[in-house]
Amino acid sequence: MKSTLVTGIGELTTNDPGLRRLHRAAVVLEGERVAWVGDAATAPMADAAVDVAGRAALPGWVDSHTHLLFAGDRTAEFEARMAGAAYTAGGILATVEATRKATDAELRANLAAHLAEAARQGTTCVETKTGYGLTVADELRCARIARDLADEVTFLGAHTVPPETDPRCYVDTVCGDMLAAVAGHVGWADVFCEVGAFDEEQSRRVLRAAAARGLGLRVHGNQLGHGPGVRLAVRLGAASVDHCTHLTEEDVAALAGSDTVATLLPACDLSTRQPLAPARRLLDAGAVVALATNANPGSSYTTSMAFCVATAVLQMGMSITEAVWAATAGGARALRRDTGEGAVGTIRVGARADLQVLDAPSVTHLAYRPGVPLTWAVWRRGRLLG
Ligand code: NIG
Repeated sequence: MKSTLVTGIGELTTNDPGLRRLHRAAVVLEGERVAWVGDAATAPMADAAVDVAGRAALPGWVDSHTHLLFAGDRTAEFEARMAGAAYTAGGILATVEATRKATDAELRANLAAHLAEAARQGTTCVETKTGYGLTVADELRCARIARDLADEVTFLGAHTVPPETDPRCYVDTVCGDMLAAVAGHVGWADVFCEVGAFDEEQSRRVLRAAAARGLGLRVHGNQLGHGPGVRLAVRLGAASVDHCTHLTEEDVAALAGSDTVATLLPACDLSTRQPLAPARRLLDAGAVVALATNANPGSSYTTSMAFCVATAVLQMGMSITEAVWAATAGGARALRRDTGEGAVGTIRVGARADLQVLDAPSVTHLAYRPGVPLTWAVWRRGRLLG
């Protein structure tokens, strides 16, 4: 197995409780794993060596919430929103129409292009969802394509009710034929629990049916207003509840007392003119927070985790350390990929060899120099991306 010594690291964020942040550090990547981490002065030999000349290094970003299986574009909707129109999630159906019309090859190419765009910015682990097909056949082909390209795939048949379907029957289809078709291709199921989408009872049905098939659970909750999403996610033991923009004190306390990660999506809050999620309240209460892009053509068309980190620090009261953790180890926790051999979001022996180097001496520059493309080098599964 080929090994690479990455040395001369001025500041190394490991997310390993034993090591945390190191200075004058080095990492050895061997095959797809991290083989050694420590002081550059004591680093072992490797087949190849890269001196990063004092730059900062950290785990690759873990983007634990995207919707990248889509076709089409919603620029006009975005322009209308910036001119004052409200975001209602009604535009999902425009993407459903375009996605259904697209060929498998087009969907695959679009997903691959977005994943490559994310990787160039340091993202090395991506979750993505179905949810723009909304027929058994379209959800199945989206799940199959996503499974080939993304690290984690989530079934989101309960995204909205498609126009050709009687709303009274749609949840039956999601819990029945659709789930049966996709279950072998996805690891997770999700539901958009919101006024105008799926109510608490419908959401519970979808999540219970998914759990009965052995899928992990996640919930889109509390995005556009207060509601039952967080409560339901915590009660059903979901791995994450995503958005969390509008939270009561009870919601915050429920998250803090649970293993459910609060995944915050600041780019979406900005793009939909929502308030930014209450990160500080969650952290102060003891909840586990992740940051993700929510990359999708409607509410958040960005693949930039660095933008989310900068926004979290500049606007949401998170420290740079908290924000970087949330965008790496927090995402890994939300995907339940934070422990064991091949863990992501951390640089420790046995973890997946996903490392990014910034053209900066410290991760602080991610917020200090917002909008500047600081990615200098990215290794994913031990391979240096070209
Ligand atoms: O997370 N909330 C629901 N789903 C997406 C929106 C998708 C869209 O507008 O196309 C979200 O924001």
